[in-house]
Amino acid sequence: SVHSAITRSSGGQVSRRAYSVDSGSGRKVAVLGAAGGIGQPLALLMKLNPLVSHLSLYDIAGTPGVAADVGHINTRSEVKGYMGDENLGAALEGCDVVIIPAGVPRKPGMTRDDLFNINAGIVKSLCTAIAKYCPNALVNMISNPVNSTVPIAAEVFKKAGTYDEKRLFGVTTLDVVRAKTFYAGKANVPVAEVNVPVVGGHAGITILPLFSQATPKANLSDEDIIALTKRTQDGGTEVVEAKAGKGSATLSMAYAGALFADACLKGLNGVPDVVECSYVQSNVTELPFFASKVRLGKNGVEEVLGLGPLSGFEKDGLEKLKPELAASIEKGIKFANQS
Ligand code: NAD
Ligand code: LMR
Repeated sequence: SVHSAITRSSGGQVSRRAYSVDSGSGRKVAVLGAAGGIGQPLALLMKLNPLVSHLSLYDIAGTPGVAADVGHINTRSEVKGYMGDENLGAALEGCDVVIIPAGVPRKPGMTRDDLFNINAGIVKSLCTAIAKYCPNALVNMISNPVNSTVPIAAEVFKKAGTYDEKRLFGVTTLDVVRAKTFYAGKANVPVAEVNVPVVGGHAGITILPLFSQATPKANLSDEDIIALTKRTQDGGTEVVEAKAGKGSATLSMAYAGALFADACLKGLNGVPDVVECSYVQSNVTELPFFASKVRLGKNGVEEVLGLGPLSGFEKDGLEKLKPELAASIEKGIKFANQS
């Protein structure tokens, strides 16, 4: 169907731009790791998304219960649970979007990279199945360490001959969600109006929020910006410590994951001007993968947007994060090619 986007210029003029939207038949979305701490609330939120017609819930254990429970909700999508490797193909067949929160979470004292040994193998086997059963799906990678799991996925897809850099996303939306929340609190502005790009990667100092570009503008001191940056970078650790051994962020992550998947679905359906930050194959810096604003469209990534003007503090942060991010990318590529 043809819709029109109404935009109002700063002079107040209203213009109308036609675009075609294809949402009638609905989309098939899979959650891999659906019985987990993130998987369950994410399954709930995807069940509430009217763009989804088929919701496929996969895990190695526990999915029959989650699917029976979520499936009773009277919204559009048909819910099916799949358990165990022998049912992974059926879970993936025909998927438009595959969201991956499968794998172990951190405990206090661990870095995301400490999860590599377990999660790299999980991601590798799930991506091997994606290449076989739904090679055209958009993949939303949540499993940590994202800085390495996305390069692993890319290598698996390359080997299978299915790699399309437009269809692979590291989910960094939670960094944006946190940056918005923390900025709104500090700047005392309405949180619903706040925008803050977060670039780089998804671990420690590789998370680089660009508060110089935050809107609405606020007069924050250098100390405030430094504190906000640090809190955003350590947001995951803040939750890990507060949960004291019971895992990491699950509820805020489910919210962020649902937001990003919805943006992917809108892009696929032809909604114009869908822009979210994501960790993707990139030419924005010399690093092969980098998070920045990305325009989403009918083929996934429509355009990787540049960084825009950076403050001196942000330029410094960008140079400091590059060695760590480069090493995490290299580690992922090496793992995928040697095992
Ligand atoms: P969890 O342990 O509660 O759940 C993980 C689920 O994955 C479990 O149900 C488990 O059975 C399942 N699983 C394990 N191996 C699997 C496989 N081979 N196939 C399918 N499912 C499998 O953990 P969680 O709190 O949901 O976190 C999951 C992952 O998400 C962790 O790696 C965590 O670090 C990461 N995470 C990422 C972000 C982000 O911003 N990208 C935010 C929070 C958490
Ligand atoms: C987060 O940012 O909350 C996740 O990456 C989980 C973690 O280990 O911090």
